[in-house]
Amino acid sequence: MAASGGAAYLRLFINIDHVATLRQARHADEPDPAAAAVLCESAGADGITAHLREDRRHIQDADLDALARVTRTPLNLEMALTDEMLAIAERLRPHQVTLVPERRQEVTTEGGLDVTREPDRMAEGLARLAAAGIRTSLFIDPAPRMIDASAALHATAIELHTGQYAHAPANPATLAALRDGAAHACALGLAVHAGHGLTVRNVGPVAAIRDIQELNIGHSIISRAVFVGLEAAVREMRTAMEQERR
Ligand code: PXP
Repeated sequence: MAASGGAAYLRLFINIDHVATLRQARHADEPDPAAAAVLCESAGADGITAHLREDRRHIQDADLDALARVTRTPLNLEMALTDEMLAIAERLRPHQVTLVPERRQEVTTEGGLDVTREPDRMAEGLARLAAAGIRTSLFIDPAPRMIDASAALHATAIELHTGQYAHAPANPATLAALRDGAAHACALGLAVHAGHGLTVRNVGPVAAIRDIQELNIGHSIISRAVFVGLEAAVREMRTAMEQERR
């Protein structure tokens, strides 16, 4: 039985970058991430997440325009804090921007953002996004000093990096860090999201943390979709989340 308090409903945002990765492997025009987003929505996604990387290795600028046109649920734009990305966000005005660290050589986002570095630049970027009416979220490791710094920067939300838990779900310390981090962030008035490396097999204990209101999940859902179709893969994830949330 989950602890009392916190949000009863856990939102599922689906990261559709992986659909674009497949398309870019052939520099073709399929599969289309915007079409995938619509299917995710009809299967029960609460929002769509897309990461526009500086090297444009998967999502392209035109994909964001298409997503903004066709999606009916909130769009969460993941991006690095650069002038170019800030200008794109200000033009597109997605529901939410999640700031992430970006390294060119990495295969995927490897660690959380160090929000204690360059606080003035961070504060300025967050203020620009807030002035454009965009909800802001910071993708961070579940470390108390990162959570404190995020609150001091007046971000709307944090997204706790679940990578360490996903790599070692049997190690109770990895889950405890997420549980404690979520409680700490909530007490500071931050909305709490989480994501990275979550699957139907490991999502349960994270979904049971009632201070977490939103999950961002991509790779495992798109991988499963190859076998059962996208809508069925989304439903499987929803079921796995909801079983633990009751
Ligand atoms: N959240 C953030 C900030 C990410 O960068 C990613 C990776 O694309 C995810 C969530 C989703 O991770 P995964 O694709 O492993 O589910």
